[in-house]
Amino acid sequence: MLVGVPKEIKNREYRVGLTPASVRELIMNGHEVIVQHNAGFEIGFSNEMYEAVGATIIETAAEIFAKADMIVKVKEPQPVECEMLRPGQILYTYLHLAPDPVQTQGLIKSGAIAIAYETVTDDFGGLPLLAPMSEVAGRMSIQAGAHALEMSQGGRGMLLGGVPGVAPAKVAIIGGGVVGTNAARMAVGMGADVTILDRSIRRMQQLDDIFKGSVKTVYSTQDAVEEAVLTSDLTVGAVLIPGAAAPKLVTREMISRMPRGSVLVDVAIDQGGCFETSKATTHEEPTYNVDGVVHYCVANMPGGVARTSTLALNNATLPHAVAIANKGWKQALKDDKHLLEGLNVCEGKITYEAVARDQNLDYVPALEVIGA
Ligand SMILES: NC(=O)c1ccc[n+]([C@@H]2O[C@H](COP(=O)([O-])OP(=O)(O)OC[C@H]3O[C@@H](n4cnc5c(N)ncnc54)[C@H](O)[C@@H]3O)[C@@H](O)[C@H]2O)c1
Repeated sequence: MLVGVPKEIKNREYRVGLTPASVRELIMNGHEVIVQHNAGFEIGFSNEMYEAVGATIIETAAEIFAKADMIVKVKEPQPVECEMLRPGQILYTYLHLAPDPVQTQGLIKSGAIAIAYETVTDDFGGLPLLAPMSEVAGRMSIQAGAHALEMSQGGRGMLLGGVPGVAPAKVAIIGGGVVGTNAARMAVGMGADVTILDRSIRRMQQLDDIFKGSVKTVYSTQDAVEEAVLTSDLTVGAVLIPGAAAPKLVTREMISRMPRGSVLVDVAIDQGGCFETSKATTHEEPTYNVDGVVHYCVANMPGGVARTSTLALNNATLPHAVAIANKGWKQALKDDKHLLEGLNVCEGKITYEAVARDQNLDYVPALEVIGA
């Protein structure tokens, strides 16, 4: 199969669909790979590195889309990319289609086979192609929060770990899932005093086991959230209710009573955020101030560490990319019910129920289109 990797064109997106190491794996499996000029340049993957593993560098995206059997990307295709997709061509990338009718119509019109990273499942009930980005965002939330606590950023002027004779900062993490656990790891590592709030007793038992007493777990009631927020120097919002907007667990009134220079990092901002005062920010201007409280609400945190994110994403996406290239999309989907969950649009039909429902479109089960 001829696999194509265009350069990402979404504003400030530096990740790339395939690393040189991933390209090498595909070539080792007997495939050909074409990579757009400078697709990975900003994150240290030069044209020469791709050529060294056997890829061919191509100048334009148009040529990549015209030639490749499968396009491997990171972000959802922009309108100009949707127009370049061809009937029968495979698109393997993040799509996030449910709230995006323009892209949905673009993909339907293209006749392409669009497999979305974010809906591929695993045996443990997780979303393995989404998890790496939650790991990145969770770890980054503490790095960002620690920076925001510095005077120059409007923070309280506190070091997370304190020093001998000075108590460490208090960190509250609301939501102990993938983001929350990774945030806790970093905060504990930096010597902070860490509390995780969650609603799942099972999850808190697991966290108690993982952290062996180095974090406190608290059942998340309104009362507990209020106490945690008012007594913490840094609060990380990491809740998720699948398929729903994030609940506004921290009210504006609570925030007005927080000490000046406290920091809120709302990782759940991509689902609307769990602090009432949250609004999405970008890496160019990541923070703003409400009632003296610093807010960090970057909606695409992994983009800030695009190299780490690309490597982490490739670890999760590569095995499926190889399977699709080796077997062809239909057989790969027939053989793997978890990959089949990733099929969102196929040759003009919506094959993912939630997308069809949210946009009032006809739904054709994925099993039907693969003839299984
Ligand atoms: N901003 C970014 O760049 C970025 C990147 C990755 C993920 N995210 C977002 O981070 C959020 C968390 O993702 P995740 O992968 O950790 O999800 P997850 O499902 O692994 O964890 C969510 C946790 O929230 C808990 N929870 C639900 N309601 C709660 C409540 N009322 N109080 C306390 N805990 C509650 C759940 O029990 C679960 O443990 C999601 O909204 C995700 O989209 C954002």
